[in-house]
Amino acid sequence: MGTYFLGIDVGTGGTRALVIDESGRVLSSASEEHQPFASPQLGWAEQDPNDWWRACGIAVRNALAQGRIRGSAIACVGFSGQMHGAVLLDERGQVVRPALIWCDVRTQKQAEDLTSQIGSARLLQLTCNPALTNFTLTKCLWVRENEPENWRRVRSLMLPKDYVRFCLTGERATDLADASGTLLLDVAHRRWSQEMLNLVQMDKALLPGLYESPEVCARISNLGAAATGLEAGTPVVAGAGDQAAGSIGIGVVTPGTVSATIGTSGVVLAATNSPALDPGGRLHTFCHGLANRWLVMGVTQAAGLSLRWFRDQFASNGHRDSYEALTTQAANVPPGSDGLLWAPYLMGERTPYLDATARAMLVGLTASHTRAHIVRAILEGVAFSLRDSFSIFEEIGVPVKTIRLGGGGARSALWRQIQADVYQHEVETVEVEEGAAYGAAILAGVGAKAWPSVDAACDAVVRVAGKTSPCSEDSLVMKCAYASYRKMYPAMKSILN
Ligand code: XUL
Repeated sequence: MGTYFLGIDVGTGGTRALVIDESGRVLSSASEEHQPFASPQLGWAEQDPNDWWRACGIAVRNALAQGRIRGSAIACVGFSGQMHGAVLLDERGQVVRPALIWCDVRTQKQAEDLTSQIGSARLLQLTCNPALTNFTLTKCLWVRENEPENWRRVRSLMLPKDYVRFCLTGERATDLADASGTLLLDVAHRRWSQEMLNLVQMDKALLPGLYESPEVCARISNLGAAATGLEAGTPVVAGAGDQAAGSIGIGVVTPGTVSATIGTSGVVLAATNSPALDPGGRLHTFCHGLANRWLVMGVTQAAGLSLRWFRDQFASNGHRDSYEALTTQAANVPPGSDGLLWAPYLMGERTPYLDATARAMLVGLTASHTRAHIVRAILEGVAFSLRDSFSIFEEIGVPVKTIRLGGGGARSALWRQIQADVYQHEVETVEVEEGAAYGAAILAGVGAKAWPSVDAACDAVVRVAGKTSPCSEDSLVMKCAYASYRKMYPAMKSILN
């Protein structure tokens, strides 16, 4: 029997467990859905951390069973997960209140207070990032201000995947890539920011130990073994937040290689050898899952979500049309969608506007436009939004030599071509596109010394499957359409403000 590595991705919709061997081949994988997040008020998003732990137990058991793999064959376990969520534990390690997760934006006041107290320039110096509602610190401050009785009981702050690891091992640990999204990390120096902690009067004892992503930080406890079928004592590495882990999974680890991933949200991410700062704070600058490597990324809030929203609201006639059916129809519409434009700000927008109040727009409708035109306009509008991140990369000197696609945007031939035309750059897909859980499994393999480094692991297991080149004629149409797209946001602000 070989040596296997397990990656566990604690996502928003569910937890996924995936087992690979020493050649990077996927042996089995299984997912278990979470309870949908609760939104008791507009802009709130809460999940019960114990539901993630429940899902982890089921996903791991099913992945082992599906591959007929004994727990003792797993040499190491790696984690990835949704970033930014605030899991608050009391002195007995019990959850104090439901976690405020990444897309909870109730903390506008706390973000504004931090910016006026500390100043945007100083925040960028201390943490490499501005105070955004998505970031963990603003969530802690909201609980401290609004639920002081809960806050008084808090002895430990954790990120989502780190809570699941705590249940599995009893250890409090996190990795630098995930910790970067808390606003409490000195991202440039890869350590907790004592100055930030002082400024917000928070005790460092609340925070977990910090590790590089492939470092072993814990071992599976007897309780963890009983819940999952893994063997007690199995080493566990720190892992990474989902964006860093996903980019490792498709080999985006050295400067020049950039990923464009369209999942629910859309992310353009580049690896860098030093922190690349956007003075405007429009990009996130985080530690990468490799020592002395950083990443810079722009986020479109509603990328794949734009298409899902359209399908669910307008393309469900008793049954939901498949994405394939929708994109097949859209492939017959000419580039530029006969003048129709979509701006995907259904959930406000992060890059480039950092504006939670931005609203989506469909502009230019005529009676000749069909449902297929709208679908194509949505695919194009999402690509324009990702193109905004590439424009900022260019502005601040982040090199883009190779673009690798991930998520749903990589699986659709039409969306691949649209992206190549909009970015005016060749785009690549990789053979195994298994998302963040695959990156987490690679990190476990590096922790178990199957590969000497994350770079070596990516060289060994990530293989390019195909390339799509831009079509010069269609690129020109897209260039003009992008110029029109850029005018929509200011127009929307002048109408809705
Ligand atoms: C990254 C981000 C999302 C979440 C949820 O900044 O907000 O990727 O990690 O997946």
